[in-house]
Amino acid sequence: MDQNILVKTESLSVDFTSGKIVFRALHCVNAAINKGEFVSIVGVSGSGKTTLLNTIGGLITPASGSVVVDGVRISSLSEEERTRFRREHIGFIFQNDNLIPSLNVFQNICFSAWLAKKEFEIDEVRTLARQLHIEDKLMELPDDLSGGQRQRVAIARAMLAKPALLLADEPTGSLDSANGRELMQLLRAAVREQGMTVLMVTHNEEFASLTDRILHIEDGRIIAEDSAGRPCRSGV
Ligand SMILES: Nc1ncnc2c1ncn2[C@@H]1O[C@H](COP(=O)(O)OP(=O)(O)OP(=O)(O)O)[C@@H](O)[C@H]1O
Ligand SMILES: [Mg+2]
Repeated sequence: MDQNILVKTESLSVDFTSGKIVFRALHCVNAAINKGEFVSIVGVSGSGKTTLLNTIGGLITPASGSVVVDGVRISSLSEEERTRFRREHIGFIFQNDNLIPSLNVFQNICFSAWLAKKEFEIDEVRTLARQLHIEDKLMELPDDLSGGQRQRVAIARAMLAKPALLLADEPTGSLDSANGRELMQLLRAAVREQGMTVLMVTHNEEFASLTDRILHIEDGRIIAEDSAGRPCRSGV
């Protein structure tokens, strides 16, 4: 595989079965994401964006085809190997924030890095919390936060672990436009400074236009790609 490619899907199809009905959510998707690329996925609700992200992340088993991440065919791994690979290489910002209700914000932020056994300085937690405007919430429980604040905790948790691949499902969905723009700058900085690769689902055209490449998905198929939105490589 090309050394510059971090993620490759090969004829990837995903089915959801309920009773006797099989619904094909992804149809033979072929996509490649380069190392250090910031790519957005856009499409209407129900088009398959979350399914694509979660299949790339190894959370959904494809009906056929495969996903290769950093040279590893993740569908060929055992469940245990896949979990370990995911912890060490992939960060998720889920469409719902998936915080652990019994842990405070500080502990939630540290959680993915702890699981992946990645070392970090407490100052890194403080810096991320400050950048995401949740520094005064570190001792609070997720239930005491607003939706946008919880989403920012989930973002900090994913970023602290410095994954090679960050899969972000509408990370700006619960954020106001100022916080959304700041998040875009934070993600761009992680791409530029850490070489992180980011795949982000968004409904926001402005934010999609700030990424290196846009994948348009419709009815489970990638129908177009464009790299029109590159104007701010250094700005954002
Ligand atoms: N676990 C599931 N079981 C059955 N069908 C599912 C499941 N998850 C998703 N689907 C179906 O697959 C299709 C794609 O869903 P998906 O969640 O990927 O859409 P999406 O593009 O992320 O939408 P949204 O913008 O609303 O988040 C939808 O028709 C959905 O109903
Ligand atoms: Mg979705």
